[in-house]
Amino acid sequence: MIGSLTRMLTGLMIYSAVLAAHGCAEESDSASYNSVIDSKQLMNWIVDPNADLIWASAGTISTLEGVQDLAPTTQEGWDAVRNSAATLAEAGNLLMAPYHSREGDWNEIALGLTNTAALLIEAAENKNDQQIFDYGGQLYNVCVACHQIYLYPEEV
Ligand code: HEC
Repeated sequence: MIGSLTRMLTGLMIYSAVLAAHGCAEESDSASYNSVIDSKQLMNWIVDPNADLIWASAGTISTLEGVQDLAPTTQEGWDAVRNSAATLAEAGNLLMAPYHSREGDWNEIALGLTNTAALLIEAAENKNDQQIFDYGGQLYNVCVACHQIYLYPEEV
């Protein structure tokens, strides 16, 4: 009786030691992040403005004065496109972080954001406005792919 109680207690102690170790591991995982903004803020404050800058930097618009080329004309302009692409690339990684990640295809689509943004960084470094336009279109498709599943599921 005493023997089996001791065994049970020992078992319990080992079990709680394992749980504690597990808990510690989880704690130190989350302790390395300080999640300041939620997914909606990440979209409105980081993803959307940087995507807008890229979309406003390629192609043409027709105005009363005629057709206007939107491609940057200065080094600063190209740098700004590159910087926004770099921000989007890392935003994709952020979307895969434990506190933003979701079930299903989420991480795969987020990786698509990172990969497309990496192409945009290269295009900006090469000052290739046609590629900024093409990859900008690809970027838009990544946004839509995720929103169709996670933002407007009722419209799929
Ligand atoms: C991996 C998934 C994912 C990707 C990729 C993604 N979004 Fe989102 N987006 C979401 C989710 C989920 C929400 C809704 C967040 C919420 O309301 O909690 C959202 C919301 C938004 C909103 C805010 C809508 C509102 O109601 O305020 C904007 C703007 C937005 N996304 C822009 C973009 C743009 C631009 C891109 C592409 C460059 C993009 N998103 C890519 C998942 C994604």
